[in-house]
Amino acid sequence: MDEPRDKERAPRNRTITLSDEERARYTAGLCRLSDRVDVAKLCNTTINQDLYLILDYLPHRFVDLLFIDPPYNLTKDFGAASFKEMTSEEYAAWFSAWFARLLPVLKPSASVYICGDWRSSGVIQSVVEKHLVIQNRITWEREKGRGAKRNWKNCSEDIWFCTVSKDFCFNADAVKLKRRVIAPYKDENGKPKDWDQTESGDFRLTCPSNMWTDLSVPFWSMPENTDHPTQKPEKLLAKVILASSQQGDLVFDPFLGSGTTSVVAKKLGRLYCGIEIDTEYCCLTEKRLAMAALENTIQGYSDGVFWERNTLAYQNGNTRNGTSATNQLSLCLREGRTTYAK
Ligand SMILES: C[S@@+](CC[C@H](N)C(=O)[O-])C[C@H]1O[C@@H](n2cnc3c(N)ncnc32)[C@H](O)[C@@H]1O
Repeated sequence: MDEPRDKERAPRNRTITLSDEERARYTAGLCRLSDRVDVAKLCNTTINQDLYLILDYLPHRFVDLLFIDPPYNLTKDFGAASFKEMTSEEYAAWFSAWFARLLPVLKPSASVYICGDWRSSGVIQSVVEKHLVIQNRITWEREKGRGAKRNWKNCSEDIWFCTVSKDFCFNADAVKLKRRVIAPYKDENGKPKDWDQTESGDFRLTCPSNMWTDLSVPFWSMPENTDHPTQKPEKLLAKVILASSQQGDLVFDPFLGSGTTSVVAKKLGRLYCGIEIDTEYCCLTEKRLAMAALENTIQGYSDGVFWERNTLAYQNGNTRNGTSATNQLSLCLREGRTTYAK
């Protein structure tokens, strides 16, 4: 990573960082492939290599859920990997080259989610529809970044939801959204119609749609935040994993970044495996996985439902002072303790 490793941070900043000792310890635990391997060797590992060089070493038909968050068609520095903006035709050729070689890892019942910004998304669709059945295009509100002066501020991204076949799992009841009631209609007996009146407010459970407006991009005061430049929210991965896999399934991410997919898979009782070329990001993944073993909450998901943004005060178990909780957790890991008193 280019940024100074030990930069000064504000006291309330909860960004996850690495000490030199942690860097050394986590690097030693990373996986490296030099030949074909079987599934047992890959379960719950972080592979620190270039995806393109190890595609042929991966087993066939071992993945239940594939989450792909590739470099978008933008000039961006990811530490060990950097990406340079290209024409749409070149991006399609780049994407197709590794995507087609990745497909044998999928089980016939597997689901695949692929992220893209508006520029990359059309290209991704045109490549993916040649290989998979597209089920949905999800659009999520990515509320971050500077306002635009010469056009509309871009604050959305796409996620293509695809399956290998028509035989796939989708757990709609596991991803319901809890929203505050704006129009509290009552029936003829004066009882709430399709919502619940609780001490902490009036809420309605709604079925999930392909428009996701309840996500916050990780930022400095969130306990999941790292210095990775394009880290996805844990809540986003929780929706994907709960909807499209079962407990014990294997979730695979070939562009793992700071490890969000593996961390959420672990928190939700799935097996995981990810590939990331940058060692610093792999170590952050390992640290987040160690933290997940001690504390498995996911911000915005509690009591088996997803909550609207800015409802933290209503969510059970999430109202404690998060700053001190995260700091305690970090201290715990640095001291090598394996238990954590909440
Ligand atoms: C968009 S980011 C993924 C972010 C991730 N979803 C997260 O939540 O942190 C893409 C990642 O792919 C990695 N990457 C780029 N080229 C790679 C390659 N050839 N092999 C493995 N990883 C690569 C980059 O280092 C970067 O961390």
